[in-house]
Amino acid sequence: MILFINACVRKDSRTRRLADALLSEWNEPVTELRLADIDFPVTSEDYLSRRDRLTAAEKFSDPMFDWANQFAAADRIVIAAPHWDLSFPASLKQYIEHINVVGITFIYTPEGIPQGLCRAKELYYVSTAGGNYVPEEYGFGYVEALARNFYGIPVVKKIQAAGLDIDGADPEQILKETMEQIREEQNRQKGDADDVVCLADGAGSSV
Ligand SMILES: Cc1cc2nc3c(=O)[nH]c(=O)nc-3n(C[C@H](O)[C@H](O)[C@H](O)COP(=O)(O)O)c2cc1C
Repeated sequence: MILFINACVRKDSRTRRLADALLSEWNEPVTELRLADIDFPVTSEDYLSRRDRLTAAEKFSDPMFDWANQFAAADRIVIAAPHWDLSFPASLKQYIEHINVVGITFIYTPEGIPQGLCRAKELYYVSTAGGNYVPEEYGFGYVEALARNFYGIPVVKKIQAAGLDIDGADPEQILKETMEQIREEQNRQKGDADDVVCLADGAGSSV
């Protein structure tokens, strides 16, 4: 199952269009979470106390952990998030607060180092930006650090179209080029996967 975490807000979201182009490359069922429609519980002191009690008792099937369990079980993850204020919409941070559960998406070693518990081998971060100043620290870089170092997802990829709102820019052309890159990259990967199957079958080597 592909988990599509959709943090787009606008009806005509360009980020959403890029994510759709990516998702259409795979013939797999997609479960979409539209974050703008979710009324996330506030991570208040009461909420944290209850969560601590439940995790200490290893009651991981509590509905409080539905999002975390769903994230941990996904085969592939796609996050779509527009570049907002050097980062992403706050709903994505709220979501992250709800899936970062020790014992479900990661555990800590006795030395205090996180170890991932998630099944997915691949996470895509899809984004668009109005300008061309798009530092990675608080957007893709942050999600990548979480994916690799908390969740244990080894392959983390960024798909981004920038400069869409600059005077004189042709946003449709930029989106089109980005979609072509998505197709090319996926075709390349499918080609690589075919090579692996060939080699595994002993049917010959393409190396
Ligand atoms: C609240 C808000 C904050 C934004 N902050 C930035 C920003 O920091 N840097 C930037 O380049 N563009 C910024 N933009 C422009 C968006 O990144 C750009 O329009 C993007 O393509 C919107 O994605 P969407 O079409 O999926 O909604 C911002 C837009 C909004 C609405």
